[in-house]
Amino acid sequence: MPATQDPLASPEGVRRLVTAAIAAPSVHNTQPWRFVLSRGALELHADASRRLPVIDPRGRSMTISCGAALLNARLAMLTTGHRPDVRVLAGDAHDSTLLAEIRTGPRVTAPTAERRLYAAIHTRHSNRMPFAARRVPDDAWAALAAAARTEGAELWPVDRHAVPEMLDLVGAAERRLESDPAYGAELDRWTTDRHRLDGVPRYAFGPAASGHGVRARDFAADGTAGEPADFERQPQLAVLMTRGEGPATWLSAGQALQRVLLTATDLGVATNLLTQLLDVWDMDRRAAAPRYGTGRHIQAIVRVGYGPRAPSTPRRPVSDVLETAPPGTRG
Ligand SMILES: Cc1cc2nc3c(=O)[nH]c(=O)nc-3n(C[C@H](O)[C@H](O)[C@H](O)COP(=O)(O)O)c2cc1C
Repeated sequence: MPATQDPLASPEGVRRLVTAAIAAPSVHNTQPWRFVLSRGALELHADASRRLPVIDPRGRSMTISCGAALLNARLAMLTTGHRPDVRVLAGDAHDSTLLAEIRTGPRVTAPTAERRLYAAIHTRHSNRMPFAARRVPDDAWAALAAAARTEGAELWPVDRHAVPEMLDLVGAAERRLESDPAYGAELDRWTTDRHRLDGVPRYAFGPAASGHGVRARDFAADGTAGEPADFERQPQLAVLMTRGEGPATWLSAGQALQRVLLTATDLGVATNLLTQLLDVWDMDRRAAAPRYGTGRHIQAIVRVGYGPRAPSTPRRPVSDVLETAPPGTRG
């Protein structure tokens, strides 16, 4: 497809956008998204059949995952020389699965920085290995914080003196989850040895931590994660925060998270999410009234550092997640 052609006007153009979108991270690699090409717009829907009912009763993690896919689709369109024109529909009672639609906007030259983020889409992987002792320098932290701000969120490094306390909270949340048989059954459904196109494959689990430190999610709930390893003594953590809560905020949190992860990838910084604590909060807030103020809410806890190469994980093919609405049936 010529770089200047409307990417939504040809099957290859649409395919390029959706291929980028589905490389996004998603909770337990559930890939909870669906795309519908309708009247010249690419609609992003949440696939509620892939929501995790135990740890994600409100659909927060599902919507964040979809937000990450949306950022990738935006970058893919921008790098064809068109500004993505995005209408956010998340939280719109009219259609509870429709989160956003993307249309082809005016011609524009993609800035080099955005091209670099697009290039990082397929090299970003969750890294659950021990990281080196090397500190992330201030200018890299500043770039990560700026990435979050670009998408209307905030990223704050956790003060190194507060990291052990934060890891204790994450560890306590992990233990509570592990003691919940419903959590174990849900994790079982999304972790696998077999070849399949979703879920977290065993080769990506990462080792358990020996002794102190990092409390990574134990994907091998059956205790077969292999030899424990020594993780970095001083893990480096950051929290991603938004003002307020709710579906539209979660969608923008997902875009912010993905811009942070891609920026880190571009800088050679490895990332891993430790969100067990947020799962527990979501589970406890299951019945909370869906009204929120404008205070800050933590949407992700990210471990950053320098690690070995992390493996890529499978994705369902574009044909499984993309539909074309028959003419005249929508709009
Ligand atoms: C909202 C959200 C929460 C996640 N929580 C965790 C987590 O607690 N622990 C973890 O190791 N990975 C977590 N992940 C990463 C996913 O497991 C990962 O994105 C998925 O398995 C696909 O692998 P990839 O990121 O390497 O492409 C999370 C991802 C998202 C989007």
